[in-house]
Amino acid sequence: MSYLIVACSLNPESRSLVLAQHAEEALRQAGVTVDFMALKNNPLPLCDGDSVYSRPEVISAAERVQKAEGILLSVPIYNYDANAAAKNLIELTGKSWQDKVVGFLCAAGGQGSYMSIMSLANSLMLDFRCIVLPRFVYVTGESFEADNLANSEIKQRIKKLADQLIKISRALQTS
Ligand SMILES: Cc1cc2nc3c(=O)[nH]c(=O)nc-3n(C[C@H](O)[C@H](O)[C@H](O)COP(=O)(O)O)c2cc1C
Repeated sequence: MSYLIVACSLNPESRSLVLAQHAEEALRQAGVTVDFMALKNNPLPLCDGDSVYSRPEVISAAERVQKAEGILLSVPIYNYDANAAAKNLIELTGKSWQDKVVGFLCAAGGQGSYMSIMSLANSLMLDFRCIVLPRFVYVTGESFEADNLANSEIKQRIKKLADQLIKISRALQTS
């Protein structure tokens, strides 16, 4: 079993990609296997609710979700929500999310969108019975210098999120 990190931004200068890379490092340091999916490098078709499910790239994405013991979604906040690419991934891979442990890292423009991830979290809980980690990481541009995460407190929070993902995923595997 491995852990999946999905970097959901399609922006070539994505900050949530940087958060996802720090989370990958934290998971690897904890000694677990990590699968890293950057949506900007794995283009997926828009969900039509029909023929798109048989496309090979959609089947592959669904298998990677299915295989994961726990999942971290690193998302840009757009219009007080996760970006459309994140939601599209979930629309495409639906049932693969069943009972997964899911955590979030969010890159946003300002502090006012702090609770924006709740709509996606709610849908994962209600649709697929996902266990959503109550700890999540929310970061604005102030924590970055150029392309680098320059805030040690945020790095600590990412580590705590990674540790909590492993702890809860393992506890549920054995119960
Ligand atoms: C279309 C669009 C909508 C956005 N909406 C919000 C928003 O509602 N709240 C917010 O705090 N930031 C908003 N932002 C700023 C992004 O969250 C910010 O640029 C973030 O770094 C994006 O993540 P990324 O760098 O990984 O792409 C928006 C940016 C774009 C392009």
